[in-house]
Amino acid sequence: MGAKLLCLCIAFTLVAYYIYSPIPENVEQPWKLMLVSTVFRTLGHVAEAAERLGLANYMDVLMLFSTAEHVAPTSDENVTVTDTELSGVAVRLFLPKKPADGLRRAVLYFHGGGWCVGDAGMKGYDFLARRTSSQLNAVVVSVNYRLAPKYHFPVQFEDVYSVSKFFLQSRVLSQYGVDPTRVCVAGDSAGGNLAAAVAQKLLEDSEVTTKLKAQALIYPALQTLDLNLPSYHQNADMPVLSKSLMVRFWSEYFTSDPSLREAITSNRHVPAQWGHLFQFVNWSTLLPDRMKKGHVYTGPVFGSPALAKKYPGFLDRRAAPLLAAEAQLRGLPPTYILTCEHDVLRDDGVMYATRLKAAGVPVTHEHAEDGFHWAAFHPFPLLCHSNGLVTACAIIFSHSCCLVSARSLPLVPGAPQAAEEQWAEPACVAVVESAHCIPAAWLRVSTARP
Ligand SMILES: *[C@@H]1O[C@H](CO)[C@@H](O)[C@H](O)[C@H]1NC(C)=O
Ligand SMILES: *[C@@H]1O[C@H](CO)[C@@H](O)[C@H](O)[C@H]1NC(C)=O
Repeated sequence: MGAKLLCLCIAFTLVAYYIYSPIPENVEQPWKLMLVSTVFRTLGHVAEAAERLGLANYMDVLMLFSTAEHVAPTSDENVTVTDTELSGVAVRLFLPKKPADGLRRAVLYFHGGGWCVGDAGMKGYDFLARRTSSQLNAVVVSVNYRLAPKYHFPVQFEDVYSVSKFFLQSRVLSQYGVDPTRVCVAGDSAGGNLAAAVAQKLLEDSEVTTKLKAQALIYPALQTLDLNLPSYHQNADMPVLSKSLMVRFWSEYFTSDPSLREAITSNRHVPAQWGHLFQFVNWSTLLPDRMKKGHVYTGPVFGSPALAKKYPGFLDRRAAPLLAAEAQLRGLPPTYILTCEHDVLRDDGVMYATRLKAAGVPVTHEHAEDGFHWAAFHPFPLLCHSNGLVTACAIIFSHSCCLVSARSLPLVPGAPQAAEEQWAEPACVAVVESAHCIPAAWLRVSTARP
């Protein structure tokens, strides 16, 4: 009896220890966040074990989540949805059924998932694109670019670029009834990275005459030069995107060679000859004082040139849009950037906002004080049945990706206060909708008729 009780106590302690993760104080329902975090951490542990045992690749295991969330392309009364190809790249296409009074807007959307996982057909992304299409009466092209580890940089970038360039041709725009002056790019996380890179590249592509009207970057990843930023320190073990997972995503984008991952982990992957690039990610000048959080800037520590020679992608601004010089930022379209406080990628977004403003680009920067990266997967029933934290599901343009109590968010005037909603499945949808109207409202204004 005593032994059993002891075993039970030990088991309970171990489980509690496993579930427990440090959660910031301003979160309303820490246990819920911990549970979500545990689900993701467990998936990570299973992936690691499977990889060590040679059963499966780490990312293939993470991909099970995307697969589980996949929904078929189903049209509804407002939107025709199809899986098809544009310029040889898979896309999920959302065409509004409402008759247009003139030409329509269009949104080119790139999903998140660290360039390794995710799918335009995931429930959350499908939902988001569908609502955007229906509410803005816009054509939404949600791109299923090819993923690592099967494909490395620059394939992901080239896929989204090739779709964008194809779509922006006048004959294609007119085929879809799209107004060439009202097309934007958008994406979350790794998708925000791709959107920023596409917007930069389009500026200098003389074959493209259509100009983007706007870009919306939702907690984007923008550089892999310095992973010692205050946001990486502060959120190294934060659910749901830890520093080690982000390092894994970054290195896997370029190669599956673990030596790059090790070098990035110790922040010694950039050789001295590329030292000049650090000015573009110098957080001591690019972060406002209140975002430095008392951290002290120390200069870069350089690594051997061998890795950069083998995998030059991490020095390439198509992978790291923050590495663009100021002249290359001038002329970018009006930009929306959302950053979340409890997110390793926070400082990437904040620094990009600073640099774009300095280059004369109109920037709307929203910072969610109690936001997380990519956490509140809307489909989690757990998250959609009570208020508080989960209100969270709320904010997101992408698919309710930050866990945020929407109360603190600068919701658009007139939108219902999410925190006061009753939570049931339909209500959850309503909140997601009201919340995603932050960027949607921004896009509505930004892509208004000239
Ligand atoms: C279609 O649009 C109408 C009007 O905006 C909305 O009330 C309805 O819920 C939409 N249908 C679906 C399936 O989203
Ligand atoms: C970053 O900025 C600080 C403050 O202006 C400066 O002292 C430092 O040399 C800069 N470092 C790099 C690598 O640009």
